[in-house]
Amino acid sequence: MGNTRNRVLSGMRPTGRLHIGHYFGALQNWVRLQNASNQETQIPVPEYECFYFIADWHALTSDYADTSGVAENTLQIMIDYLAAGLDPVGHKNCVIFQQSAVPEHSELHLLLSMVTPLGWLERVPTYKEALENVKDKDLHNYGFLGYPVLQTADIVIYSNPGAPLLVPVGEDQVSHVEVSREIVRRFNSFYGFKLSADFFLLEEKTARDWVVHALDLLDLEEQAKEILAKKGNLSVEEHAALVTAVRHRVSEIGLLNLSEDHRSSRPLIEMLQILTEPEAMLTQTPRIPGLDGRKMSKSYGNAITLSETDEEIRAKTKVMVTDPARKRRTDPGNPDVCPVYDWHKLFSAEEPGRLEWVRQGCTTAGIGCIECKAAMAENLIKWIAPVRERRVNYEQNPQRVLEILDEGSKKARKVAQGTMERVREAVFGWEKKRKEIGGSAAKA
Ligand code: TRP
Ligand code: SF4
Repeated sequence: MGNTRNRVLSGMRPTGRLHIGHYFGALQNWVRLQNASNQETQIPVPEYECFYFIADWHALTSDYADTSGVAENTLQIMIDYLAAGLDPVGHKNCVIFQQSAVPEHSELHLLLSMVTPLGWLERVPTYKEALENVKDKDLHNYGFLGYPVLQTADIVIYSNPGAPLLVPVGEDQVSHVEVSREIVRRFNSFYGFKLSADFFLLEEKTARDWVVHALDLLDLEEQAKEILAKKGNLSVEEHAALVTAVRHRVSEIGLLNLSEDHRSSRPLIEMLQILTEPEAMLTQTPRIPGLDGRKMSKSYGNAITLSETDEEIRAKTKVMVTDPARKRRTDPGNPDVCPVYDWHKLFSAEEPGRLEWVRQGCTTAGIGCIECKAAMAENLIKWIAPVRERRVNYEQNPQRVLEILDEGSKKARKVAQGTMERVREAVFGWEKKRKEIGGSAAKA
């Protein structure tokens, strides 16, 4: 029996240091998936095989004109991953790798690009938005349009036939995973198409209707008669003609209609899942607005990075935006519209009574915002200490960091190479061809 454990795959572009928004929006969940184990078995087994990666090629889709920061950012993001608690050394079920160190992604990207209609890419909402909004870079390049195709390759090269392939992403990335599913479906419909053995066992009359009809479509009437007479004993060319004809018919009327057409319970055609359709895995992530109340983002300067010092944290949180209605110390406030309270919920939940103290004190003007922020900052500092400590340790040992990354890339590459062998055979059928030819052409 094969290994059919759920696979998890996700990645980030190395565009700068990660902040606590990334942590609560993604990394925390990645760590949870790495640690999840199935308790129903006698010996608990890890629930997921996790693959996390650094999408350095994807960083180029927009930063192609200046790549000077990509290598350093890749290293820094790896340090952030490790600091956040991803542990590819301690967990056999967690692999972290670098996209460009697994060149098979690019080969699969090329094959997928052949079957991806341009319209699908042009309609991706994030693509249209970026073209409209990004003014400081020219995004009218082929790589940027093809972003979702490369992303599809990233994901489905880790297909494990029979096992779900899960992609933990934010709401904004769901449309990408949706496109991935469509690309995979189309890929499978071309290269996973097979006539089943039952096809050749059809009753004479049904077979006649079927094959003649199918081959008729391609003006192969003469061949149709011969092929019918031969049933299963077809030459390579005849088989190919038959497959082409049936495929043609399927593309015209659809697989479902075709099955209804011949009214047999046995499938005549098999659709092999060469690649697995991925599923977006949406997890509830807590809201963590930036210091100014907008979405947390490095470019807004409203973030706290994973390496921020205590002094920086105190200084930055001191000027955080609060409930705008609370102008004076004597005005009561509403914690439910205050970013500081959102942060309290993340960092102060374990301190007995603290959340009640905020709610009570805020709504009755019993406490001031300065006190409230200071209490939150101290808890944030406590929370960040172990993360920052791990970060500092790795920062001082970049050689070790690279070793861990290279090790992961090697492991990922093995898996990717296995998939590509299957994919190449499905697309070109060279193994089959070599066997036909025989002699030294046939692979050992
Ligand atoms: N699009 C992701 C980002 O913006 C990065 C990414 C590339 C990715 N390939 C992926 C995420 C595959 C999940 C799965 O950060
Ligand atoms: Fe926000 Fe705290 Fe001020 Fe209330 S007291 S408005 S929760 S900072």
